[in-house]
Amino acid sequence: MTTLHCDIDCESPLAPQAAPDGSLWWQAGALRLCFVGLADLLPRHLPQIDRRDFRRQPPIALDAAHPLGDILNPGEIDQVNRYKALKRQVEWIAGRLAVKKLVARWLRPDLPPSRIQVAHHPQGAPFLPCAPDTALSISHAGDYAVAGLELDRQRGLGLDIEAVKPRAVRAVLTTAFSATERRALPAAATPDAVFRRWCLKEAFLKYIGRGFHENLTRVEILDGAVRHHGQTVSDLTLQVARPFPRHILAVISGPRRSVDQSPASRV
Ligand SMILES: CC(C)(COP(=O)(O)OP(=O)(O)OC[C@H]1O[C@@H](n2cnc3c(N)ncnc32)[C@H](O)[C@@H]1OP(=O)(O)O)[C@@H](O)C(=O)NCCC(=O)NCCS
Repeated sequence: MTTLHCDIDCESPLAPQAAPDGSLWWQAGALRLCFVGLADLLPRHLPQIDRRDFRRQPPIALDAAHPLGDILNPGEIDQVNRYKALKRQVEWIAGRLAVKKLVARWLRPDLPPSRIQVAHHPQGAPFLPCAPDTALSISHAGDYAVAGLELDRQRGLGLDIEAVKPRAVRAVLTTAFSATERRALPAAATPDAVFRRWCLKEAFLKYIGRGFHENLTRVEILDGAVRHHGQTVSDLTLQVARPFPRHILAVISGPRRSVDQSPASRV
């Protein structure tokens, strides 16, 4: 297989299908995605939160008696309570719900939701103790969280969702893009064009399991392919889509790589 050069500026069609429980699903080949939207999550699971401008509200404290206790185990409830910002609490819960729904549907329908847990490698890459050979990736941004599984156990996965923020374009360009990437951008690059490349870059950082422990400019998105430390990475499948208005999703799959187990080290 060779690198699939994607036309970054031509988004793939990706229309998630809604399920009765409010989640949104998409699949292609061995890839399975589940999206959880905050507009559904908040009234359904956290009705005490005022949805208008909820990101400015104080954090919540969940106890085991909260209805989410049927889905989240005590350790996960503690994790929610440790976050200092309601925004982070809500997006983390949305991500965990997406993972649990995916796993219950495609991998372990025998497990109750509270027994489906996410663990992390030392540099932050998530994995499923109940299905450690299946690649998992998680992302949250704007109004959605998304979790993905790559059911082909020979393959790894990285995905990223971003809410396009025109005011963040300059910061993204200066902190995350190499000089070569900046030069390669069209003169009138739109915020969407910048965010598509940024999304692909983050998806690759997750695919290799290093996240921000890798130097951002050593991963370059050029000519619709990924270059890592100056070399084009072969055997990747790249996809960029707009599953919801204002939100861009990038998905990268490829041969499973061994996850770097070393602690944080910036190259
Ligand atoms: C992964 C990362 C690049 C994405 O950040 P982001 O855009 O802010 O957040 P997203 O919502 O898209 O992704 C968050 C998810 O990425 C996953 N993730 C974190 N580190 C990862 C890694 N090294 N490889 C793959 N996935 C990773 C986690 O599952 C996380 O979700 P969770 O906290 O609910 O489990 C970044 O958060 C990261 O590298 N974090 C870990 C390392 C770190 O904190 N470094 C600080 C500077 S050295």
